[in-house]
Amino acid sequence: MRDIDIIGVAGAGAMGRGIAQIAAQAGITVRLFDVQPEAVTAAREALQAVWNRLVEKQRMTADEAQASLERVVPCSSLNDMADVDLVVEAIVERLDIKEELFRKLEDIVGPDCILASNTSSLSITAIAAACKNPARVVGYHFFNPVPLMKVVEVIDGARSHPQYGDALMALARRMGHTPVRAKDMPGFIVNHGGRGMNIEGLKTAQECVAPFHVIDAIMRGQAGFRMGPFELMDLTGLDVSHPVMESIYQQFYDEPRFRPSPITAVRTAGGLLGRKTGEGFYRYQDGQKIVEPEAAVPALPETLNVWVAPYHSTGHRRAAALLRELGVEPVTSDEPPHDALIIVTPYGEDTATVVAQYQLDGRRTVALDTFFGLEAGKRRVLMCSAATTAQWRDAAHALFARDGSPVSVIADSAGFVGQRIVATIINVACDIAQQGIATPEDIDQAISLGLGYPGGGPLSLGDALGSAHVLDVLRGMLRTTGDMRYRSSLWLQRRVQLGMSLRSEAAVA
Ligand SMILES: NC(=O)c1ccc[n+]([C@@H]2O[C@H](COP(=O)([O-])OP(=O)(O)OC[C@H]3O[C@@H](n4cnc5c(N)ncnc54)[C@H](O)[C@@H]3O)[C@@H](O)[C@H]2O)c1
Repeated sequence: MRDIDIIGVAGAGAMGRGIAQIAAQAGITVRLFDVQPEAVTAAREALQAVWNRLVEKQRMTADEAQASLERVVPCSSLNDMADVDLVVEAIVERLDIKEELFRKLEDIVGPDCILASNTSSLSITAIAAACKNPARVVGYHFFNPVPLMKVVEVIDGARSHPQYGDALMALARRMGHTPVRAKDMPGFIVNHGGRGMNIEGLKTAQECVAPFHVIDAIMRGQAGFRMGPFELMDLTGLDVSHPVMESIYQQFYDEPRFRPSPITAVRTAGGLLGRKTGEGFYRYQDGQKIVEPEAAVPALPETLNVWVAPYHSTGHRRAAALLRELGVEPVTSDEPPHDALIIVTPYGEDTATVVAQYQLDGRRTVALDTFFGLEAGKRRVLMCSAATTAQWRDAAHALFARDGSPVSVIADSAGFVGQRIVATIINVACDIAQQGIATPEDIDQAISLGLGYPGGGPLSLGDALGSAHVLDVLRGMLRTTGDMRYRSSLWLQRRVQLGMSLRSEAAVA
């Protein structure tokens, strides 16, 4: 297979120009074509402006900028692509139009030329089916903005020959990107792995566990994510994320893990799309999110007995240790004294379930989320049952905010907020591995680079949090709700059973 020195880029929109930029910067000649010739002119002008800025910032020399620009050759016809080694298609997201383009290209390019599609949602196998030689049709899925999003998915269709994907992997590295390899399945890796956060965030909000901004604050301040689900959906816009949620759910034949929420259907219909319309889950003023003030911390009662339920060993140990740090020695009797605040620490269960199971006084019971650790400064999350009274809720709030750590108080929920969303994200990633869509290493790379999730990717995060604990959370959620969306992936279950890392593949392939 020959080296890739000249590429064609079809479609000079947001993605096409980004792909042209990184290729030209890597010394590759780019033949740029668009059905609208003015789009090619606009793309070249935009690239020139980008490179001028890079020269100003001394990130490239004027000669390099000029050479890069000269490498982007405008084409007035597809016939100008006759000598290219690869065509990357970044045109409109329609199967019939992409099929037509590929059919035309087959008559123009040489027999070894790779035909790649940047599609986000169409099947590579379906696009290839229109071609005389489907073996050379491969997915090459970049993310927007291409120069900053340093990951690209290389997708093998059912009839792709692996040598073409291998060549795209090597080219990606040459362009400074991290390539990951995926099978042709809906959402590939990144858009599949991203299901957990938004969909579980929406389900949590739909159950009235907490307002949108509190769910986001917990995902940032407790679980360590850069953004919560509602901030993310406001950034992307519901006009984009809602149809993707519906499409992936349908493509996986109503997989309960991907069941979308009517919340986004209603808000999309109402034009509450996010930042782009000035109002989404948040309102925006001059492009800035209007932030809700933090709930005030109530006064701590002068005397407060606290009893920590011993039912969950890790949770009990973490909660008792924190209480001691806060200057409170928990009461150690087997049963809670009649005047004590009762702290429970469930994984995946709600407060009501623990109250019922252990015959506790629901009015005095508050759940503390210990899953992520309880270091000072990290957001703490308290959860009330429907029976918890304001007096005991406020006492717990004041107590756990005593060292100045932020505290969120939420309504009853199987898996609080952070547990359920993070366990769902890890479970979805485990199932991507179980389905052989990508290797564990590529799943972690793709999701941490493509979505910016913490912990080196969801499988590594699962190992760090304790995969057995993640499994406990999912089992607790499934028992409490009966909802099959919380059934654990066999990948997760088996690796816990065998004491293996979530990143380990089977010893024998
Ligand atoms: N924008 C994103 O965030 C993103 C991310 C990943 C993948 N993608 C995918 O990349 C592709 C392009 O997306 P975009 O955001 O750059 O779109 P865009 O609308 O910005 O640009 C598409 C360009 O393709 C041109 N075009 C349409 N039909 C054509 C044809 N038959 N031949 C040549 N040019 C044609 C249009 O004139 C337009 O300039 C789509 O498949 C999309 O799903 C987009």
